[in-house]
Amino acid sequence: MKALILAGGEGTRLRPITHTSAKQLVPVANKPILYYAIESVAAAGIAEVGIVVGDTAPEIEAAVGDGSAFGVSVTYVRQEAPLGLAHAVLVARDFLGDDDFVMYLGDNLLQRGVDALVKDFASRPADVVASILLAKVPDPTRFGVAELDDGGQVVRLVEKPATPPSDLALVGVYLFGPRVHDAVAAITPSARGELEITDAIQWLIDNGHTVQSQVLDGWWIDTGKLTPLLEANRLVLETVERRIDGFVDDAATVEGRVVIEAGAEVRASLVRGPAVIGAGTRIVGSYVGPFTSIAPGCEIADSEIEHSVVLEGSRIAGVARIADSLIGREAEVVRAEQGPKALRLMLGDHSRVDLP
Ligand code: DAU
Repeated sequence: MKALILAGGEGTRLRPITHTSAKQLVPVANKPILYYAIESVAAAGIAEVGIVVGDTAPEIEAAVGDGSAFGVSVTYVRQEAPLGLAHAVLVARDFLGDDDFVMYLGDNLLQRGVDALVKDFASRPADVVASILLAKVPDPTRFGVAELDDGGQVVRLVEKPATPPSDLALVGVYLFGPRVHDAVAAITPSARGELEITDAIQWLIDNGHTVQSQVLDGWWIDTGKLTPLLEANRLVLETVERRIDGFVDDAATVEGRVVIEAGAEVRASLVRGPAVIGAGTRIVGSYVGPFTSIAPGCEIADSEIEHSVVLEGSRIAGVARIADSLIGREAEVVRAEQGPKALRLMLGDHSRVDLP
């Protein structure tokens, strides 16, 4: 069994962050989303991992390396353009050979691991060629959607349907045997110009093969947009254990499940968990509220922030209160000492500011 993790594509829904960085490397609880996928397949005992990369290949390769840090061996598969999830399988043909594989979308985050799924698939009946994971969602139009017959057998899959046949969305983890290579070679691009994996799975069903499905246990988030990303950050922070390796002065209070990395400093501040504070970050005269991740090398001074994700090297000074926000690398949000009472902005393309 191999793994194919998809880390190409475009991150249009997380602009401007993804103008300069891959969406799969946006951190959740100070760890890139992609790392959770790699850790999950490694924990399932998979040693050979292919990572599909596009324009952001150099950044992904710098972050993941040869995979040894995760106990796996990584092969990078270059996809020249994001032509669809089935196209990613097509370009990975040499890496995959005729082995079974788990395909994991690199921007998806699952509460539970994939080891049970992988084990189940390895001992499947001979007629089963693929296995999909489904989750009930309130807004199926954003996903691939499955229709099951009365016996629970998958009969139809549709990608982002205007009128969904059910509320069962396809989770971004799929298990395939080698028959899928016939399917991805046979299908044609969808209306949005992509080779859809949903169409490839539909092709398998239409050609008399059995596709297993099971409803997911635990939470699942497709992190591609701001609100789900903050939700993922909240859910992962719920699981952190308190660990204070950095410096906390006598005038500071650190409440609940908080990680303060070595080299971080908290002075005259209140940090209320769950929260993580990265190495080298300084929190001074501030309030850091629940569900906040502050990356390494940041400075939060005389400010209040909660339910937010702040990326590396940013500075927030004299601002109260920031909530529900994603702040990019080396960004500055500061209160001007003097000057007219006006907002002075230098925002990246596709930025968004919500004023109270
Ligand atoms: O998150 C689950 C959903 O993922 C499923 O319900 C849908 O059926 C499936 O099509 C997919 O929809 P998305 O619109 O969310 O896919 P997205 O374009 O965000 O791509 C998912 C991941 O795969 C992401 O990490 C980028 C990567 N990717 C995407 C494309 C289109 C590639 O590596 N190459 C590609 O060509």
